[in-house]
Amino acid sequence: MIDQISLGYSKIMTEMGIKNKILEHDSLVEAADVVAQLGYTLNDSVATLIMKADDNFIAVLRRDVTKISFKKIKKLLGVEMLRIATPEEFNKITELEIGTARFYVPGIKTYIDKKVFGKKTILGGTGSLTSTFQCQSEDLKKLPGIQVVDVTSEIEEVVTNLKTTKRVFSGIRATGRLHLGNYLGAVKGFLELEKTGKYETVYCVVDIHSITTPFKPDELRANKREIIIDYLAAGLDPKKSIIIYQSDIPEHIELAFYFSTVETIARMMHLPTYKEKVKQHPQANTMALLNYPILMASDILIYKAGLVPVGIDQEPHLEVAREIARKMNQIYGTDFPEPVRFATKGEYIPSLTGEGKMSKSVENSYINLTDNLDEIKKKIAKVPTDSGKGIMGPPPKGIDPKTYEGKEKYSELVGKIPSGVAALFEFVELFQGLEKRKYYEKIYITTGIKYGQMKQELSEAIFADLKPFQERRAKIAEDTKYVDEVIRDGAERARKIARETVQEVKEKMGLL
Ligand code: AMP
Ligand code: TRP
Repeated sequence: MIDQISLGYSKIMTEMGIKNKILEHDSLVEAADVVAQLGYTLNDSVATLIMKADDNFIAVLRRDVTKISFKKIKKLLGVEMLRIATPEEFNKITELEIGTARFYVPGIKTYIDKKVFGKKTILGGTGSLTSTFQCQSEDLKKLPGIQVVDVTSEIEEVVTNLKTTKRVFSGIRATGRLHLGNYLGAVKGFLELEKTGKYETVYCVVDIHSITTPFKPDELRANKREIIIDYLAAGLDPKKSIIIYQSDIPEHIELAFYFSTVETIARMMHLPTYKEKVKQHPQANTMALLNYPILMASDILIYKAGLVPVGIDQEPHLEVAREIARKMNQIYGTDFPEPVRFATKGEYIPSLTGEGKMSKSVENSYINLTDNLDEIKKKIAKVPTDSGKGIMGPPPKGIDPKTYEGKEKYSELVGKIPSGVAALFEFVELFQGLEKRKYYEKIYITTGIKYGQMKQELSEAIFADLKPFQERRAKIAEDTKYVDEVIRDGAERARKIARETVQEVKEKMGLL
């Protein structure tokens, strides 16, 4: 029977508009034991840490697979001292037993790490050792006085979650040339993971995904090869990574069909990516489009990859892949990992228009990796700005814009600047370094920025980064034989793994 303490909490949360379920289990202290008994993983649970920051107590909510960064929290709060509360302090603040902390801790300021929202449904403490709270992460935004923050480190998440991961998988659609968003958000991650030498890395041109929206066969044929060349020019090493076309391994489609037996149509129709695409192409609301996330799950899970370097926009799709892995494992006893995203520093590259993210499908939003200095200059020149002497006010507590020395990113502290200028600041940070960004932010609130010169320097910095890529690319593109061999060899290596997984799934599903 569910105890009174959990029921009372459940009721308070319901009253605040947070729908929830109380799940019962044995008396357990460790989150890892709880999730295992309930049929989940640490990827699903969120912990509440009670901390002491200078003289105040705070609560920090973070996913169990992430590690908080003390440095980031200190910086955020502007405090000198930060530590985890002692057991006595914990009891005093929460009036609960250790190991049972709740999402709602009345009376103290609560910070929710943004990665908490990377999971749709989450688990947490109820105040009792024999039950666990389950709700939608989005609903936590209804809690009074909370603040969403970015205070966990990416790498720790990956390391903690993936002690057992052997493989990495990622893919890019063949809808055009790669742009800076693809490069910084995805390909840089491909390279980073390849370099560790710890994983078997599989990088794919997902040509079958490219036919889920309107396309032209001749363009597709040309584009898919261009992306393989982009991969090689970016520095991927075909001796280390398996580089493939998705359509060369038809098992991806076969497995996707098996996976489609455990996903509902309703779930697929509610995905933001699906809705967006239907809006863009109302005439092409096809079965293929609805199946997009299932095929993506198959791409990843056919190699049992646990780590996926992609931009943040792909998080809803990864959630589907994890859901499918869980369901297949539960129903058929397979051993699919629950893949997590490997984030790079450029996980969200803004659009040059200032609105939204850089994207192939938005005119004037992107810089291609193959653009020359002139093209880059023209595109950067079009980024909308202001007079150069903006006001970012009102300043946060303890910070005076007049004496501000640029120790932090002022714009992030204050938030309010025109979106085009914010995009320029981002690009400056990515291509000219954080110091340069701080310098511009400082003069933005004092003497004023001269955009002409800023844009010129920035364009040159971007081009300097792209030039070696472009030189390598020209050489590789000429070597037709080499490119063909990379594709042939990749397909051969990938097929071996893919066939094994499909064989196993067929056996477990009773097809063999
Ligand atoms: P797509 O071109 O949409 O197939 O995207 C290929 C990869 O690039 C995916 O991993 C995306 O998450 C990533 N990506 C695309 N646009 C951006 C962007 N503006 N910022 C960061 N990553 C991006
Ligand atoms: N959906 C991804 C995108 O639009 C492309 C993709 C398809 C992918 N299958 C994948 C990415 C598997 C990573 C892993 O960018």
